[in-house]
Amino acid sequence: MAKITFVQTDGTKNEVDVPNGQSIKDGAINNLVPGILAECGGACACATCQVYIDDAWFEKVGPAKGVEKDMLDFAFEPKETSRLSCQVDITDDFDGLVVHVPEEQ
Ligand code: FES
Repeated sequence: MAKITFVQTDGTKNEVDVPNGQSIKDGAINNLVPGILAECGGACACATCQVYIDDAWFEKVGPAKGVEKDMLDFAFEPKETSRLSCQVDITDDFDGLVVHVPEEQ
């Protein structure tokens, strides 16, 4: 279980508990966090679940690779710290993780 904070562009924060084995996207959808659309349901095929990993956490979470990296080309204003939230599975190590929700998906 990890507590994850989603920060909206206006500074609003949503703090949610996400069980191990679920993705960041699952934590957002299951808790009605605004701004994460996840139109493909987590299949790494839509890029509407993008988040920016907080700088303090990026080294631990790591960069996107492979298909996820390719899909990020279709995301709204991808950055170095972008990840598709459906592709990051939660473990206890991610307790306290902070991610930023893009202005659009
Ligand atoms: S939910 Fe579609 S790529 Fe993540």
